[in-house]
Parts: sequence; structure tokens; C-alpha cells
Amino acid sequence: MAHIGGIMAREQVFSCTVCGATQSKWSGRCDACGSWNTIVEDSPLATGPGKALKRGAALTLTDLATAEAPPPRTEAGVAELDRVLGGGLVAASAILVGGDPGIGKSTLLLQAAARFARNGLKVVYVTGEESAGQVQMRAQRLGLTESPVKLAAATALRDILSTLESEQPQLAIIDSIQTMWLDTVESAPGSVSQVRAAAHELTSFAKRRGIAVVMVGHVTKEGAIAGPRVVEHMVDTVLYFEGDRGHQFRILRAVKNRFGPADEIGVFEMTGKGLIEVKNPSALFLADRGAPVPGSVVFGGIEGTRPILCEIQALVAPAAPGQTRRSVVGWDGGRLAMILAVLDARAGLSFAGLDVYLNVAGGLRITEPAADLAVAMALVSAQAQRPLDPQAVVFGEISLSGGLRSVTQTENRLKEAQKLGFTAAILPTLAKRAASTGLALKEMPDLAAAVTGHLGET
Ligand code: TYD
Ligand code: MG
Repeated sequence: MAHIGGIMAREQVFSCTVCGATQSKWSGRCDACGSWNTIVEDSPLATGPGKALKRGAALTLTDLATAEAPPPRTEAGVAELDRVLGGGLVAASAILVGGDPGIGKSTLLLQAAARFARNGLKVVYVTGEESAGQVQMRAQRLGLTESPVKLAAATALRDILSTLESEQPQLAIIDSIQTMWLDTVESAPGSVSQVRAAAHELTSFAKRRGIAVVMVGHVTKEGAIAGPRVVEHMVDTVLYFEGDRGHQFRILRAVKNRFGPADEIGVFEMTGKGLIEVKNPSALFLADRGAPVPGSVVFGGIEGTRPILCEIQALVAPAAPGQTRRSVVGWDGGRLAMILAVLDARAGLSFAGLDVYLNVAGGLRITEPAADLAVAMALVSAQAQRPLDPQAVVFGEISLSGGLRSVTQTENRLKEAQKLGFTAAILPTLAKRAASTGLALKEMPDLAAAVTGHLGET
């Protein structure tokens, strides 16, 4: 077996705490992944060719069955939050809430803290970002001053852990992980090693003491400050709070959850009085739709277990010679390029020499391939300058061959469309007959048929 990196035992080894690459000299930047301040001295491998590992203790193996009850959960009473958590807050779990600075993480967590406190949890909120006074002012503005949440402004993790240990709350909120520091780690607060060490301490503390710990992490552009990515694998649950600062909608998205489904989203609206949950996001995302215009298509989407209809808008315009633009907001640029290529190759529609702009209205970000057909129809409608039936929802995945693949939860999508007053659906040919929804189902075998059937030559 080859020795990792060809390094002999007893030589000094340095390894990167981000990517694990080893090198023989210390440096400020990892040669392999380019991270800064992540190279640490490592103990050389004690094993290797010709060296047998010493015998260890025998492990006790158990069955998969357990008599233990699932961990207790507490609901906030805010459906949009509880669903994303997988059905409420799990005791003794570590949760990371990431997001851009200024998106509303502190607001969300202060409001959540107040809700959990009202539902009987003892809650401590530690701010390292703001003064206690600033948080109190926010609490006042949000009308939460009566709530029994306990507040401290601190950044020394040793003090914070000791305090939590004696106070014994059931929920501790640490805002933010980038401001916390441990005196046992030499680098500055916000560095990869500090963030990693602090998150590790907090996570093991959560498990050991049975306290749910929520850590806030700012997502940052490349730089010396470590983003929440370094912490993701340590915690049980990773939530991202996203949205466009130009819009009032905010989306809390579970990207990892050991205690529930990932991909769930919760939708909120940022108002002057804090965040308000949005119980019917489809209605909200479609609220601004006016008269039928070319390039506008309603996509019947699913986020987690929940159907969400939203508007996809495309605009096609002649490009300046030699520089065609492809601009996408709320969807994947690579996927757009693929749809354009398939439209060209399989439906004979070329966008060469044209600028293409694609936008998901309302600041929503869609990752589902089911949006393919809606995007394609929006593009074709924009190019043909002909509006699509405004009463139709569209969904379906497009394959490179130009065929349409049916997608998950068709019935959920159709039900939501009907609930919102749509009368038709353009979708791939169904393998299974969906229960009657009252919508006119326009099943399409392939992209070319969908295009000619709804916007084709007249
Ligand atoms: P904040 O929670 O401080 O963001 P983060 O912790 O993610 O950095 O929220 C910042 C923005 O939210 C700020 O620009 C003001 C806005 N906001 C409101 O619109 N209404 C409110 O009630 C509050 C408290 C904040
Ligand atoms: Mg904040």
C-alpha cells in the first residue's frame, strides 16, 4: 500500500485542516486547496509498510433495534420554522444557521428564541456581534421585551460554556460563530481554526449537556474569515437563510438535517416588525403577475414536501455583435445553457445572436430539474413574442435527447395549481394516471411537441 504523500514515519508532517493534503513544510497557504492559515503540524503516520498496528480493545457491537425513544422535540409554534427543523427543535442538537450578513439571521433567531421561551424552554441568547443594548433595542422593536429570554454579550467561549453549564438552558443561541474565540487556539477570532474549534466545543457541549445549540454563521466571500462551510459536517442540522435584500421574502432552507428531511423550506417576509411567516408562498410569489406577457411562465415547483408555484420570466433581445449575454437570477446558469442547446438541437430553435435573461420572480432560488420545461417554455414564448396560456402551470425535466421526464410529486403540484385557480397543466406524459384534479392535463411526449403545441406556428 502506498504511503500517503510518500512521507516516511518520524519525518515532520504538516497537513491542511480543510482538505487534508499533507506537505513537508509549513506555509501560510495550502498548496492543494488554496486555503489560508489552515496548515498545522501533524503527527506523522505511525503505521506504514511493514508496521503492524498494535492490538486495540474489542468493541461491543449492538443491534440496529433500539428501545430508546426518539429525542424530544419542542415546537416554536411557527409552522415555517418547525417544518424546516424537521418537526420542531431537537434537544441536545447542534444547528448552524448560515446566511449573508444583513439577511436577517439575528432577527430570525431572536424571534425564534422568544417563541421557544414562550413555549417553556429556558433560552440563552449570546451575542458576540452586537452589544446587549443593541439586542434589547431590537427586542423592543419586535415587541419581545416581555419574553423570558436571557441575554449576554460575550465572545470568550470558555466563559460562555461555563455560564451555560451553570444556567442549564435548553436552548443556547450563539450569534455568531465567527466572533467566538477560545484561548487555547492561537489564531484570531474568525480564522478557520478558531471557528472550527469553537464549533467543535459547542457541538460536543450540546451533546454532553443536552442543550440545543444554535450557531449563526456568516457566509462570506473568499477571505481570511472562515465561512460556515467548515462547520457544516460537525453539526446535526444546517439551515441557510437566504433571500435577496431587494425583496422582502426570506427563505429558510434545510440543507442538512440528521433529524428530518433536507430540502424543506420555510418562507418569511421581512417587515418593519420583524419576520412574519408566509403560509401560502405560491400566492405571494404570483401576486405581482399582471396581464399575460411573452416570456412569463408559472412553474409548478416543489420545495421539500411543499408545492410552490412561482413565475419564471425570460427576455430575449438582439445581442451586440460578438457578445451574447446569458444572465440568470434564481436558477442555474449551466442548466440554462443546456436548455438552450436542447432547444436548438431538438426543437430547431436557435438563440444564437440573442441575449437571454432569465429570472425567477420574487427572489426565489430554484434548484429542481423539474423547472426545465417551464424555463424552456418561457424562453420560447419570449422569442416568439407570444404569451403562454396564463392559466397553465408548467413542469417537467428535459433530457438531452429532447424528451421529457416526469418528475416527483406530480399530484402535489397539480393540487396546488388548482388551489390557486389554474385551469391547465403542461407536463410530461404521465406513466401513472394522476387522480383527477379538475385541471386540463396537457401531457407532452417531448420538448418539440410542447413547443409547437403551445406556441408553435399559427
Ligand atoms: P439582522 O437580523 O441584523 O441580519 P443578520 O443577523 O443576518 O446580519 O437583520 C438585518 C436587517 O433586517 C437590517 O437591514 C434591518 C432589517 N430589519 C427589518 O427590516 N425589520 C426588523 O424588524 C428588523 C429587526 C430588522
Ligand atoms: Mg446578526
